[in-house]
Parts: sequence; C-alpha cells; structure tokens
Amino acid sequence: VTSGDGSVLAHTLVVDRTAIGEASVVPGTLTVGAGEVLLRVDRFALTSNNVTYAVTGEALQYWRFFPTGDDTTGTPPVWGLATVVASGHAQVGVGEEWYGFLPPATHVVVRPGRVDPTGVTDASPHRAGLAGTYQRYARTAADPLHTAATADLELLHRPLFTTAFLLDDLLADETAVGGDVRTVVVTSASSKTGTALGRLLAARDGVEAVGLTSSRNVALVDGLGVFDRVLAYDEVDGLAAAVAPAALVDLAGDAGVVAAVHDVLAGALCVSLVVGVTHHDADPAARPSAGPRPTPFFAPDRVRARLRDWGPDGFAARVAAAWAPFVTWVTPLLDVRKVAGLDAAAQEWRGLVDGMVDPAEGIVVVPAAG
Ligand SMILES: NC(=O)c1ccc[n+]([C@@H]2O[C@H](COP(=O)([O-])OP(=O)(O)OC[C@H]3O[C@@H](n4cnc5c(N)ncnc54)[C@H](OP(=O)(O)O)[C@@H]3O)[C@@H](O)[C@H]2O)c1
Repeated sequence: VTSGDGSVLAHTLVVDRTAIGEASVVPGTLTVGAGEVLLRVDRFALTSNNVTYAVTGEALQYWRFFPTGDDTTGTPPVWGLATVVASGHAQVGVGEEWYGFLPPATHVVVRPGRVDPTGVTDASPHRAGLAGTYQRYARTAADPLHTAATADLELLHRPLFTTAFLLDDLLADETAVGGDVRTVVVTSASSKTGTALGRLLAARDGVEAVGLTSSRNVALVDGLGVFDRVLAYDEVDGLAAAVAPAALVDLAGDAGVVAAVHDVLAGALCVSLVVGVTHHDADPAARPSAGPRPTPFFAPDRVRARLRDWGPDGFAARVAAAWAPFVTWVTPLLDVRKVAGLDAAAQEWRGLVDGMVDPAEGIVVVPAAG
C-alpha cells in the first residue's frame, strides 16, 4: 500500500523479548530515502533456527537487525526472498529479486553499501558491526544456488545446509577439532541442520554418525538412512562402544543430554560443539563431569574463516557443489506447507516455540496474503 506522500504501510511480526511465544503483527510506515531501497518480502521460511535467533536475541544481538523501536519487543530474523519495489540507489533496480536475512514482514528498507553483480551488503547504521553473513543479500539472477523451481527448499534448507557443510568441513579438519574424528554424535538429528549434517557425514569413510533424537522422531530419522545409528535421548548409554576419537555436535542445547553424552564418551570425546538450542525450554542445570569444554560454534565466524582461505568464488563453488545433490535428495523428503499472511505466521510461530514441529514438514510464509 503506497500513500500519496510515497510512504508505505508495512506489517511486521514482532515478539515479546521475555516471552518469545507471544507474537503479534504490528503496522508501521516506511519511507525510502536517498541511498535506500524498499524490499517487498515475497516469502520466508520458519524453522527452529528462527526461534533460536529469538532465544539468543539479546546475547547474540539478533534483535539489532530489524529494530522495533521498543526494547521490550523484537523482530526475529528469517531467511527469505524479496523484490526491490522502490530504489533510491543508482546501482539497484526496481524488480530485482534478493535472497537473504529479512524481517518476517511485508516490507523492509535497507541501505546498500557494497554493491556488486552477485549481491548487495546492507550498511544501515543500526546493523553496523553485525556478522557479515547476515548483511549480504544475493541477487538471485546471479546466484549459483538459486533456481525458481527449488526456491522453497532454498528458503527452508540453505542456511542450515550451509551450517552443516561448515560443521562437516570443521570435523574433517583434525587440527581444528583435536583429532581424526571417527564418531560424530548429533543431537536434534531430525532437524534440518542435523539431517544435512548426517547426509554429509555419510559420505565420509571411516566415520560413524550417530543421530540422537526424541523417541517420537527415531523412526523418521532412521528412515532417512544417513545416520549409522539412531538413538533416543534416553538411550545415550548405547554410545559406550563408540570408536574414539568422538565429536559431539549439539543442536538441541539440552544440558542433561550433553552431560549424559559427555559422561558416556568421557575421554573418547575430542570436541564438543555448542551449535543450537532447539530444546530451548530444557532444564539448564546439568553439567558434564567428563570430556572437553563445550565450544560455541557460530556459522558466520566459520564462513569468514573459509572466505579468507578459499576466496568468495571458491567458497561459493564448494557450497554450490555440495548443495546440488543435497537438494535432489531432500526434495521428496520434505513436505512444504505454505502459510498465507502474517497473522497465520504468528500462529505458526507460537507452535514452533512450543515445540510443535513436524520434522517432515517445512513452513514457508507468504506475508502479503493476509
Ligand atoms: N550456531 C550456528 O551458527 C547455527 C547455524 C544454523 C542453525 N543452528 C541451530 O541449529 C538448530 C536446528 O535448527 P533447524 O532450523 O535445523 O531446526 P528444525 O529443522 O526446525 O528442527 C526441528 C527439530 O528440532 C527439535 N525441536 C524443535 N523445537 C523443539 C522444542 N521446542 N522442544 C523440543 N525439541 C524441539 C525436534 O528435534 P529432536 O526431536 O530431534 O530433538 C524437531 O524435530 C537451531 O537451534 C539453530 O539455531 C545454529
């Protein structure tokens, strides 16, 4: 909706910072100044990753990307596709399609800094100093990972697949993880990140990948055929015979599960990576009595390191080469569910926060439809 003075009425899904399940859709007015670009958000994915952005909104600064103007509320970032509908920047044309970090909203204004044929970096002052991965928008017309036919899969899986790619790469680097890893234990194995990591690990000779998941998801994860073994969270004792050295990739963030894995693997564990918090409401009290100190893994840091090592083209080529067979494999496994409008998205968000997640399903929101 464009008013007579050139401003745009936008709607944004915002959450209560201290009770992230409480989501509402708020109206606002956007204006596009010189050097700025107005994006219409065409569609975005919602997964547990976005809930984790909200859980860690304060600590990892996710609230800073799309400020609400009020410290009690926050906009959880999402990965999506957007179209330029107004441009005050000479190198950006109306009609361009971009992929990147967006608010769950109908529209957003960004301020292009570096612009090149493959993409645009947002240089909005409120985003200064935040991780580079999140500032970059890919121009889909020049994006080797993008095809219109696989766009929904891209929204749902691309950031998570890239994380899995980086984890697989890190685990293969024995100097970085402290050993020639022979066993990799992955929690929340049913998640998109866990599934992608399992798929990549399956291609590594001599590595046993063990998926840990909720008992309700054991059969589904088993059926993926990528993990050598799948155990429920209360079957961690089954790791006792694991071949050393072992690594733990923790996507669940459940302190009790982490402590149990550390206790069983003990000296066999060479690295313990803290990656996700899908079980954000788990009791945080348990502490591991054995094994290495858990190390935080932040994908944008590893992206930066590999961009230095491989260069932007080398990085893009490696991810694209791994992505293509993954998309072919995962397409029949994921049921894409389209959600129309932000009010419906708020309802889905509440479900996600409450753990009502069907790992066989991926949610794609079309914000304008409500
Ligand atoms: N550190 C980084 O840079 C980085 C990068 C990307 C992703 N991540 C993290 O990786 C995690 C996985 O993200 P994703 O988007 O791939 O997840 P997803 O596909 O949405 O995962 C769904 C699975 O997560 C578990 N789950 C979700 N919500 C839950 C709840 N409230 N209670 C209990 N279990 C719940 C269940 O798995 P189980 O039954 O198998 O536990 C569920 O099947 C997120 O925490 C994300 O932030 C971290």
